[in-house]
Amino acid sequence: MQKLVIEGGTPLFGEIMTQGAKNAVLPVLAACVLCEGTVHLKNCPCISDRYASARILSALGAKVKTEGNSLTADCTGLSSDEISCYLMKAMRSSIIFMGALLGRTGKCTLCYPGGCNLGPRPIDMHISAMRKMGGIISDEHGVISCSAPDGLKGCRHSLSFPSVGATENIMLAAVCAEGETIISNAAREPEICCLADFLRACGAKISGDGGGRIAIEGVKKLTAPDEAFEIIPDRIAAATYLSCAACAGGELLIRDCAPAHLEAVLPVFEQAGCRLKVFGSNIYIYRKGRLRAADTIRTMVYPGFPTDAQAILMAPLCTAEGTTVFVENIFENRYRHTDALCRMGADIKAEGKVAVVTGVPRLYGTVAEAPDLRGGAALVCAALGAEGISEISGVNYIDRGYEEIERVLTAAGAKIRREAEKLP
Ligand code: EPU
Repeated sequence: MQKLVIEGGTPLFGEIMTQGAKNAVLPVLAACVLCEGTVHLKNCPCISDRYASARILSALGAKVKTEGNSLTADCTGLSSDEISCYLMKAMRSSIIFMGALLGRTGKCTLCYPGGCNLGPRPIDMHISAMRKMGGIISDEHGVISCSAPDGLKGCRHSLSFPSVGATENIMLAAVCAEGETIISNAAREPEICCLADFLRACGAKISGDGGGRIAIEGVKKLTAPDEAFEIIPDRIAAATYLSCAACAGGELLIRDCAPAHLEAVLPVFEQAGCRLKVFGSNIYIYRKGRLRAADTIRTMVYPGFPTDAQAILMAPLCTAEGTTVFVENIFENRYRHTDALCRMGADIKAEGKVAVVTGVPRLYGTVAEAPDLRGGAALVCAALGAEGISEISGVNYIDRGYEEIERVLTAAGAKIRREAEKLP
């Protein structure tokens, strides 16, 4: 077990390169199951969720090699269609192997996925979509057996909510299915477009991604692209490092971060009094003096304000002058970071979907545990701006989505180190 020890109060200066997107690399890795030949990926973040996906591919019989931010996967000779409960529980994204495996082998056995505890995270939309495409799915004591004896058939899906994971699962099942699949009310997140770009590079016929109606014409097979495929930048990691600067003060240049993907997030930093400039694919942030409260932040599906940035933006707003209201519309239980922020001196009243954050002059270092990935990142941001020393345990959550967070922040001047936690 490890913890991050952070001495707050040191402004940040310098440049941070944006890592590749967690939520883009995971579906692309699942998509490799459908490909003949060796897939080359670049800009893959070195995070534990990526390694969990690579372990699933290896367990299925793929040849996977990783070197820094590059990865190759050859799924030509898959030897298994079963994913153990142990591997499934490592992350939420394991569920999208269902569509990929059904598309490739016509059957698979897996369990319910793990992932951060953000309230109930059902997979009903995934399962009903696979059934609609001809999948026969049974659930015995948590073991999900899937088969498509007559192959998967394209059809029309109208999603009751634009679920990111369900959209990805249907895309993966549909690319090699017979006939046309239409997804209405599809998720529009940039990570969906990244998956579609990868599948197109492999020979899939997909249009409409980035909008609410995705059309997919099934093809006989997918082949690994000749060129290495590049994973898009991680918009939530970029937002996190912007928040680190907003909390600690100073000036940072966040490089290669696709600012267009952050259109709902950047105005909040500006409302709070940070100075921002976008130069091509880079964002410069400067913060001096006390922040101001922002307008009500309502989490929405893309292009709305992302739920994944809710905790991260709450950290700087804890010390802003005035009151900021947050409304979390995507997950039922995504305010678990507020207890630790209150222990640092924040004034937050959270009930149901709403959290009311009344800014206090300063936060103080504390001992806290990351409640989940983004909640843990929010505690790191808050600790960088707090007076005194914070110790944040549960670093395994943070490592799921951030590549060596302490190295990145140390290079920008932060006083942060990773230590082994001593057993009592
Ligand atoms: N939902 C259902 N039934 C389903 C699927 C989803 O009710 O079958 C509900 C969920 O319970 C939730 C809402 O729909 O209330 C949104 O879930 P969605 O399926 O869109 O989320 P996801 O695919 O499980 C991805 C990201 C999350 C991100 C959400 C929303 C990945 C691996 N994860 O999750 O990322 O919060 O979309 O944008 O892509 C994170 O990175 O920290 C993270 C949690």
